[in-house]
Amino acid sequence: MRFLASAGRQSLRRHKAARPVLLALSLFLVGAVYAAVAPATTSSAEGAPNEQLIAQGKDLFAVNCASCHGLNAEGLAQQGAPALTNVGGAAVDFQVRTGRMPMGNPYTQAQGQGQGKQNTFSDDEINALAAYVASLGTGPDVPTEDQYSPDGLSAEDVARGGDLFRTNCSACHNFKGAGGALPNGYVAPSIENTDPAQIWEALRTGPGQMPVFASGAIPDEDVKKMIAYVEQVNATPSAGLTLGGLGPVSEGFWAWVAGIGSLVLAAIWIATRGARA
Ligand code: HEC
Ligand code: HEC
Repeated sequence: MRFLASAGRQSLRRHKAARPVLLALSLFLVGAVYAAVAPATTSSAEGAPNEQLIAQGKDLFAVNCASCHGLNAEGLAQQGAPALTNVGGAAVDFQVRTGRMPMGNPYTQAQGQGQGKQNTFSDDEINALAAYVASLGTGPDVPTEDQYSPDGLSAEDVARGGDLFRTNCSACHNFKGAGGALPNGYVAPSIENTDPAQIWEALRTGPGQMPVFASGAIPDEDVKKMIAYVEQVNATPSAGLTLGGLGPVSEGFWAWVAGIGSLVLAAIWIATRGARA
């Protein structure tokens, strides 16, 4: 009897303990379900600021760009300004950051940072303009750092970048990106001081007379190598006499002639003095 009673109490106690456990379990379940559902909720919440950004970009566009490109970026033939409905955010980011847009005179080649024209928009304004134009159609997006950053590339990669640059770019921009003249008064500007992101964007959007280099032809990995090459060739300080940037081969040749030459002269001088003494 005593045994039965205590067994009954025990099962009762177990039953009582099960309640908080069940409660904890269901709380845990609710938490898990919430965690699974939450990302979807935040991503739709993220959509709101994006709408705001696009609206802000549309306003900025109406004030700064619509006089040439039209109120809906449809392009205005009488201004020679193209439609921007399928150029993507990358084209806007490139054109505005390098100071090309808004243009002063639409009937000449766009003047950029290489010609002393500077960007006057803040990062936020450029992001808004790019988001607005990107929302109109297709085209490359503003790149993220992992698409263009040359960090961590090996010497071999940089050498490969040099090969790619000489093959694809140096005909217009010179072997180290110093720039050059093109037919009909056009200019391929210096890219020595251009930010990596804008080099990537120039390739993908083909500004002015420059051709487009799509990712199928030159993948991001190779763009990074070219950027690394341009950075390296321009980081090498030219001490004293620059020799006009003749290139590593001819500069190496002169280093050889001057270096070995002076060693030979020193040897002769020591030899003749030694003989005399
Ligand atoms: C005075 C006229 C004028 C104004 C103002 C102007 N643009 Fe342009 N834009 C042009 C012309 C002309 C071209 C084509 C010539 C060229 O690309 O070099 C062009 C080209 C562009 C391109 C390149 C399109 C492509 O196919 O890659 C973009 C992007 C662009 N403009 C964006 C803007 C933005 C954004 C603004 C405002 C901040 C702006 N423009 C203001 C005249 C103008
Ligand atoms: C056919 C000649 C030509 C070739 C080839 C060419 N470019 Fe260009 N590039 C130009 C011209 C012209 C411009 C100026 C565009 C304008 O008028 O807005 C330019 C502009 C640029 C700019 C913008 C520089 C700045 O700071 O304003 C970059 C970066 C650039 N080119 C990189 C490259 C790279 C990298 C390659 C090789 C993959 C290349 N280009 C191949 C003609 C060329």
